[in-house]
Amino acid sequence: MTAPASPPSGTAPREQWTGQLGFVLAAIGSAVGLGNIWRFPGVAYENGGGAFLIPYLVALLTAGVPILLLDYSLGHRFRGATPTVFRRLHRRAEPLGWFQVALSCAITLYYTVIIAWAASYMLFSVNQAWGDDPGTFLVGDYLQVGDPTFSLQVVPQVLIPLVVIWVVAIGILALGLQKGVERANKIFIPLLLVMFLALVVRAVTLDGAMDGLNAFFTPDWQALANPGVWIAAYTQIFFSLSIAFGIMITYSSYLRRRANLTSTGFVVGFANSSFELLAGIGVFAALGFMAFQTGVTVDQLDNIAGVTLAFVAFPQIISMMPGGAVFGILFFGSLTLAGLTSLLSILQVTSAAVQEKFGITPRQAALRIGGVAALLSIALFSTTSALHVLDTMDTYVNEVGVLTSAVVMTVLVGLVLRRLGDLRAHLNDRVGVPVGRWWSVLVGVVVPVVLGYMLVASVVGLVSEPYEGYSWTFLGVVGWGTLGVTAVLALVLTLVRWRRDPDDFVPQALPDRVLNPRSRRRATEEAP
Ligand code: ALA
Repeated sequence: MTAPASPPSGTAPREQWTGQLGFVLAAIGSAVGLGNIWRFPGVAYENGGGAFLIPYLVALLTAGVPILLLDYSLGHRFRGATPTVFRRLHRRAEPLGWFQVALSCAITLYYTVIIAWAASYMLFSVNQAWGDDPGTFLVGDYLQVGDPTFSLQVVPQVLIPLVVIWVVAIGILALGLQKGVERANKIFIPLLLVMFLALVVRAVTLDGAMDGLNAFFTPDWQALANPGVWIAAYTQIFFSLSIAFGIMITYSSYLRRRANLTSTGFVVGFANSSFELLAGIGVFAALGFMAFQTGVTVDQLDNIAGVTLAFVAFPQIISMMPGGAVFGILFFGSLTLAGLTSLLSILQVTSAAVQEKFGITPRQAALRIGGVAALLSIALFSTTSALHVLDTMDTYVNEVGVLTSAVVMTVLVGLVLRRLGDLRAHLNDRVGVPVGRWWSVLVGVVVPVVLGYMLVASVVGLVSEPYEGYSWTFLGVVGWGTLGVTAVLALVLTLVRWRRDPDDFVPQALPDRVLNPRSRRRATEEAP
């Protein structure tokens, strides 16, 4: 029994990476993003410093890498965009695919605006346009932040870079997988690495750098008793590795049949965490310099988390430093490049899904989906309410949406459909590190239990106290509203008729040597 390799007659062959290297670079490009450079250092610092590395590593090994391999095995075995993959896994599972697509769509809307800010700040670095008070400049002059309500007042200095980033991203996507996404990653990722290494080397040679590193790595062991610290570690790993919202399913579906999946998964996981650690070192060395210059200790500094870390603390550092303009261009340039390569992967999830459901070309999908997403993103995030909407959407989408997606996916695949044996056999039927039973135990038992608990804790937290003190109406519309829209979209899109039959597909037969008894029985039952 072999899978039909050719697409239905009259349609173009499915796109593929040119080879393993193209995939690895694109997967690293997707993983290494805004989450690594500005999210990780602040999250680690707020959640126990050096001690955070323990929950972080536990999260990476117990959920990050196992779910990355689950995404790879699903995408590669069922060879399609996320809705196609879940539909081929089981007819009724298609809504989960669309739910992941809708989550990706929501993330693209605000992810783009952070890249736009970073690109603007790269230019501002040249003459330190933020002046003496980068905090006031950010919220007052640049973002013109208003009250946490909805505003239609457009901020032109955000609108223009936002439009530019959308045009660049849609342009690359429209060129197709190999000529667009793969080529962009082959250029941007080595460039990013060189720029970021130069930045870190400069940062660790600044006065006071060692104090910054001590502050970053000094463990606060008591933090480990706080469940919130563990939730932060798992959320960070999911966002950072780009798992459980369709990206790695989509990317691995473009790999050739004999590709190495498992070793690639370990390489991508290792590369992503190394980059994250490097970012922590670079950022805290620079913060150490700032503390040294202002005569305080690192823990007395403000602005060490979230948006203010990148857009207030770094401008202050750049202004204090000899040769600050170059440092600023390196920092904000790295943020822009890392963000852009991740954005391409998030957009590809939706593009691939609509290509397959509606039978359209990559170019048509890029223009139509990109166009609609760009308009929505501009409407929501080029106004004076952008910062509050972004903060709320990011929290609800990641801490509820992506966690729900991961729990439902692991329960469905592992416990309801009992397909982990087949998927493990698929992983082991090609070169690469063999995956043992530990993987099925982690994905089928540990991940649903741990993440299920975290999901409940997150929801309880969000309903018991208004997030960041925003009004319940605002949180209802932006936070729960976004999640509601993703759920409705998932159901509606499932009901739309397929233009190409997704069921005209048989997964690749697996040799006896990699099958366990259950998978062997299933293979015999399903054989024609
Ligand atoms: N993995 C991407 C990031 O870290 C989404 O930003």
